[in-house]
Amino acid sequence: MKVMVVGGGGREHALCWKLKRSPSVREVVCAPGNPGIARDARCVDVSASDIDGLAALARDEQPDLVVVGPEAPLVAGLADRLRGEGIAVFGPGHEAARLEGSKSFAKELMREAGVPTARFVTHTEVDAAIATIRDWGAPIVVKASGLAAGKGVVVARSADEAEAAARDMLAGNRFGEAGHEVVIEEFLEGEEASCLFLVSGDAILPLDSSQDHKALEDSDRGPNTGGMGAYSPAPCVTPEIADTVLERIARPTIAALKARGIEFVGTLYAGVMLTTEGPKVLEFNVRFGDPECQPLMTRLASDLGEVLLAAARGQLDGIRLEWDPRAALCVVAASRGYPGAFEKGQEIRGLDEVERAGAIVFHAGTAKRDGRIVNAGGRVLGVTALGDTVAEAQAAAYAALEKLDWPGGYWRRDIGWRAIARERLVQTRAAHEKAARGEDA
Ligand code: AMP
Ligand code: GLY
Repeated sequence: MKVMVVGGGGREHALCWKLKRSPSVREVVCAPGNPGIARDARCVDVSASDIDGLAALARDEQPDLVVVGPEAPLVAGLADRLRGEGIAVFGPGHEAARLEGSKSFAKELMREAGVPTARFVTHTEVDAAIATIRDWGAPIVVKASGLAAGKGVVVARSADEAEAAARDMLAGNRFGEAGHEVVIEEFLEGEEASCLFLVSGDAILPLDSSQDHKALEDSDRGPNTGGMGAYSPAPCVTPEIADTVLERIARPTIAALKARGIEFVGTLYAGVMLTTEGPKVLEFNVRFGDPECQPLMTRLASDLGEVLLAAARGQLDGIRLEWDPRAALCVVAASRGYPGAFEKGQEIRGLDEVERAGAIVFHAGTAKRDGRIVNAGGRVLGVTALGDTVAEAQAAAYAALEKLDWPGGYWRRDIGWRAIARERLVQTRAAHEKAARGEDA
């Protein structure tokens, strides 16, 4: 089959990379793609926000399947438009995409469906928002309701900070239209995990677990970003937790959409907090996570083209996914200065050496200038490696990154730390038990 992928980031590179390696796929076309994607797909320069241009491209190319990577074209109704022209699409329509496009819609739906999530109220007026903040006290979370590229959330340690955030969003114009409605949420404590599902009608197929690192700096400090690294599987998501997320979160959410007459076809991404009361939803996305997609595609052993086409056609039932049992870990190399301002156009060398050292380099914000690869975005590369454990995958990814020659690049040094701490604990326990049995530890 011929597949058209929409988008040009690290997630889309991972999707194109995997599709190219799928026996059922003959050709991959990507709009707009990037210089790394160009190794795995034919790139066509149509922006992921150009709905008319993408529809025209699909009409020309006549792909058997379109896979939409980012949320913005989904929220803008690209999938409905293509389906209207008889093209099979993996990605939800505009109505279903509101799960991500409107946090207030998602929270109302969860309340209706009894899905565990933080207590919340929605406000459009500053005074009312501030009254809620004073009433609840800190810590408290203030979120722009609309799309804000992962940056519209303020986890406030004090009521003053929360008030300033609400004022910025509602009275100021911090996130434009997206911030003119805010959701104020109870602060949840715990470890976060990403639980993704392929969904088509009533069929819901869980992907293996993963964990993102949203904070810019080591030990999860500094400002929030789109994600500085991810790994899969995430050992904090035990089989019991995975089952709870499927039965108490994914199924009732898809059923509540259906009760409103909305069908979901695509990826349902539940960002969950593993609290002492069980997993609770922090956010829904309606697409693969970026960078979670990079380790997930590295580990997926099934034919991705076949699976996504089956979902697009409503034939997901009975499909099973096969996974490489090893762990995969992706370290994001970002432009120094991100998520604030940074300089573009810096040459990046050593990419072949990184791959020769055993990692896969997924391109995100890169461009080609005079035959050289330069940085063109905040998150630039996703260096991804496999290992028998998360610790080994981490060691392999960082060893490969040493070959990268990019003085203006920045990356965290501790991606995977929570899983590795868990692995060490398990090993130490096993050693103690062995010693207690009188064997050599
Ligand atoms: P979101 O885009 O809604 O997932 O929020 C971005 C990040 O903010 C999450 O990954 C969490 O780290 C944090 N966050 C969001 N909501 C809450 C909450 N209710 N309690 C604690 N942290 C939160
Ligand atoms: N990695 C977080 C996201 O894709 O939203």
